[in-house]
Amino acid sequence: MKRRSFLQWMGLGWLVTAVQGCFARSGGGQGTSQGASGGVVVGSVSDLAGSGVLERNTALGPVLVTGDAASPESLRAVNPTCTHQGCTVRWQPQQQEFLCPCHGARFAADGAVLQGPAGAGLKAYSVRVEGTEVLVDA
Ligand code: FES
Repeated sequence: MKRRSFLQWMGLGWLVTAVQGCFARSGGGQGTSQGASGGVVVGSVSDLAGSGVLERNTALGPVLVTGDAASPESLRAVNPTCTHQGCTVRWQPQQQEFLCPCHGARFAADGAVLQGPAGAGLKAYSVRVEGTEVLVDA
């Protein structure tokens, strides 16, 4: 390897390392940062407004929040990975339940199984609003 190529290669390596360090310190983006009082930020209240659904990949894995941020008692958060074979469930606002598109399992808003073939409920998280952020706890 020529000297010039070696120096360019070293410079690129330094740049990649520096960029990775910046992302690690910032938590890697929205959905992975920690709230002021602990918990993982899933998104903002405005992200949840309108559709009533907020889905993000977080440090805890995928998290799907449903409900109305103005009524914190209505908020629910689950891991949307179906416990049958791993498909991603979808929120059905009319029925207020999750439906798995792969084999038809249905889950209640709190993640409990309503209909198989899934034998276990979705992993549920406690969810809260803190200022303008929606957070979940492990
Ligand atoms: S993967 Fe969800 S019902 Fe089969």
